[in-house]
Amino acid sequence: MAKASLEAIRNAAPAVLPSLLLCDFGDLKGEVSRLRDAGAEVLHLDVMDGHFVPNMTYAMPIVEGLRRHTDMPLDVHLMISDPAKYARPMVEAGADMLTFHVEAVRDVAETAAQIRELGVNVGVALNPETSLASIRPCLADIDMVLVMSVEAGFGGQKFNPVALEKLQTLRSEFPDLLLEIDGGIDPTTIGPARAAGCDLFVVGSAIFKTDSYADAMKVLSDQIAAHDPSAEHGS
Ligand code: DX5
Ligand code: ZN
Repeated sequence: MAKASLEAIRNAAPAVLPSLLLCDFGDLKGEVSRLRDAGAEVLHLDVMDGHFVPNMTYAMPIVEGLRRHTDMPLDVHLMISDPAKYARPMVEAGADMLTFHVEAVRDVAETAAQIRELGVNVGVALNPETSLASIRPCLADIDMVLVMSVEAGFGGQKFNPVALEKLQTLRSEFPDLLLEIDGGIDPTTIGPARAAGCDLFVVGSAIFKTDSYADAMKVLSDQIAAHDPSAEHGS
């Protein structure tokens, strides 16, 4: 299971992942189908607990409900204080990738290993002010790094370019590691993120606050295509 969904995510990359934070929660089934029609291949789910971050969103029942309506891989971003505790129910609900925050745990390698044991793909996330050094102990044993370009917690914040340096460093050291960016991604910031070596681009406002998901996805995908990292020698 984990292998197949990881392959599906890798095959989709480079890809825009709509973040289900600013969507219409009264019509999740319709939103999923509109996003699919607009070209989405992977969905990003923002789980917040009102403790690790001040905001609160949703958890297993919504993941499970979405799972019933789509076969798209579900990339679950856990912005919660005790990710290991909720990892199993999240996997049972249908998560394909579980990404936890390094700031939330005491031993990043141990948490990664605990989640890995559940047979799911594992990601580690770090906020803009958190150094890359903090995630190094788990890098050999994870599938993805989520580099936050805003402080986790809310959609609609301003892009922090510190994420670009982290992406560049990770990409040069780990050519095969999946890299994801999240926060403030729009048609102006997605190109630099792609040029820095990013594979997966989480987008909230720049999709959900527009009139056409399809048009928004196209503009973003065109910018990804225009900034192929292998063609841009550090420019
Ligand atoms: C922020 C979330 C993001 C957010 C992105 O804590 O993790 O996924 O929804 O939204 P925008 O694109 O509006 O920054
Ligand atoms: Zn997110």
